[in-house]
Amino acid sequence: MNKPIRVMGIESSCDETSVSIVEKRDNKINVLSNIVKSQIDIHKYYGGVVPELAARAHSDIIDKLIKLAIDQSGLNLKKIDAIAATAGPGLLGGLLVGVVAGKTLAHYSNKPFIAINHLEGHALSIKLERDINFPYLLLLVSGGHTEFTIIKSFNSYKRIGTTIDDALGEAFDKTARILNLGYPGGPEIEKYAASGDKNRFKLPMPLIKEKNSHFSFAGLKSSVANIVAEHRCTEKFKRDMAASFQETVNRIIFKKTQNAVNEFRKLVKSKKDLKVVVAGGVAANKSIRQSLKELGEIEDCEFLFPSIKYCTDNGAMIALAGIERFERNKFNKLNFKPRPRWPLDKNALFMKGKRVVEG
Ligand code: KG4
Ligand code: ZN
Repeated sequence: MNKPIRVMGIESSCDETSVSIVEKRDNKINVLSNIVKSQIDIHKYYGGVVPELAARAHSDIIDKLIKLAIDQSGLNLKKIDAIAATAGPGLLGGLLVGVVAGKTLAHYSNKPFIAINHLEGHALSIKLERDINFPYLLLLVSGGHTEFTIIKSFNSYKRIGTTIDDALGEAFDKTARILNLGYPGGPEIEKYAASGDKNRFKLPMPLIKEKNSHFSFAGLKSSVANIVAEHRCTEKFKRDMAASFQETVNRIIFKKTQNAVNEFRKLVKSKKDLKVVVAGGVAANKSIRQSLKELGEIEDCEFLFPSIKYCTDNGAMIALAGIERFERNKFNKLNFKPRPRWPLDKNALFMKGKRVVEG
C-alpha cells in the first residue's frame, strides 16, 4: 500500500473562490473537501465580472475557506503534503490573492508550493471521478476559454482549435445581457430556450464552412443585438431568441467538434477508443451535452462530462493537478509570479482577431 498523497488546491482566477483537499490513495482519487463560494451576487448587477470587485471578494474570504476546507477534510495541516494554487490564466487581482495565500501557507508550514495552470485543472478534472487513459481530446468551453486541445499525456498538450474572438460562455453572457435575462447568462438562456421556437430566427454561423476547429462567436451576439433593435422584447420573443441562439451554438459546436475529432484521428495514431472530455461552465448545458452525445454515435467516440460541480471553477481540479505535479516532483519557487495569460500549449499561436481560412 502506497502512502496517500494529499494536496490543497486554491482557485481564485475569476469569480469563484474555492479551496479543496484531494487525496490519492491506492491509485484512487478522493475529494475530501471542496468549498466553492461564488461571487454571482456581487457581479450580477453589472452583467459581468468586475475585476477589482472580484479581487476584493476573494481576499475577504480566502482565509475562511482555507480553514473550512481543512476542517471539512477531517485532517489537519500537518497531514497535507503540498499547497497548489491557480497561478494563471485569469484576472491578475484574483490570481494574486490565491497565489499569495498558497505561498504563505506553504512557507509557514514548510511544504512545497505548486503553481497550477487553470486550464490544466479543467483538462484533468474528469479524473476526479473516473479513470481515463491518455491521449484524449478536450473541448474546454467556459466564460474565458474555448478550445480543443489534445491531452497527449500529462504536461504534453497540443491545442488544435480555439476562438478568434469571444469565448462561448462570454457569447452566452453577452446575449443574455442584450435580452435582459440576468447573469450569468448561460443558465438563463438555457432556461428560456426550453420553451422557445428554435427555428424562428436564423443567426450566422461564422467559420462554419472552414474545415478547421476554430470558432468565432462575436458576430452571433451582434446579430442578436440587431434583431432585438427591430422587435419588441416580449417574453415570447426572448424565449424564441434564446432557443434560436442555443440551436445555432449547438450546430456550430457539433460541426467544429466533428472537425476536431477528425484532426485528432489524423494526428494521434492511437488504437484506443477515442474519448472526448467536455469541461468548463458551458459544458453544464444539457442541449449541448445531448447534441455531442449524438455526434459520439455518428463518429464512434465517447463523450465524457465531469459532474457540473467539477465543470465550473473549483479547487478540487486544482488540487488534482497539484497531485499529478507532486508525484513528478514539479514544485515552484515562492517567487513564482501569477500569469494572466498562460496558454496550456506553449507553442499555440495567439489567435484573437486572426482570420483562419484553410483548404
Ligand atoms: O468555467 P466557468 O465556471 O468559469 C470560467 O472559467 O469562465 O464558466 C462560466 C461560464 C459563464 O459564461 C456561464 O454563462 C457559462 O459558463 N454557463 C453556461 C451554463 N452554465 C454556465 N452556459 C450555457 N449553459 C449553461 N447551462
Ligand atoms: Zn474555468
